[in-house]
Amino acid sequence: MDEREKQRLKCTVNGESVDVLFDGYKTLLEVLREELDLCGTKHGCELGECGACAVLVDGKPVLSCLTLALECGQRKIETIEGVGDAKLHPLQAAFADLGGSQCGYCTPAMILTAKELLERNPDPSLDEIRESLAGVLCRCTGYQQIFDSVEQAAEELRRGEKAEVNS
Ligand code: FES
Ligand code: FES
Repeated sequence: MDEREKQRLKCTVNGESVDVLFDGYKTLLEVLREELDLCGTKHGCELGECGACAVLVDGKPVLSCLTLALECGQRKIETIEGVGDAKLHPLQAAFADLGGSQCGYCTPAMILTAKELLERNPDPSLDEIRESLAGVLCRCTGYQQIFDSVEQAAEELRRGEKAEVNS
């Protein structure tokens, strides 16, 4: 494709302003991985079935394989690279502690989806956790370790909030 036919995407990715030229047919998944080198977002079925490509767009989980990058102008996108800093996010720490991540292919999507859940519902029931993560498939863990990890992270986050209020 000729440079002049490229589209421009201006948005925010993990808190940084991004201005990137891309072939207009590309999905958000392709632009993240191929143009921005953010390969933490996984390329699975490309059919909207496995959930491995989920990222947050304006705070909500979205399947990046079914989202055209063209639709993302001025949006706030969060990928796994934006979660945690020098210290792991409690979800990342819990997945590591409890075996919630094994081959790791589903983990970025699981963590981002769980993060959104815990932001809107800090004390979810097991059913609410199951329901919220139902769109992301895991071939390794049998899911229990993932649910346990989300429960542990939720507890940790609630403890942190209480400590902040009391300090
Ligand atoms: Fe499988 Fe997007 S890659 S749902
Ligand atoms: Fe392998 Fe979930 S840890 S697919």
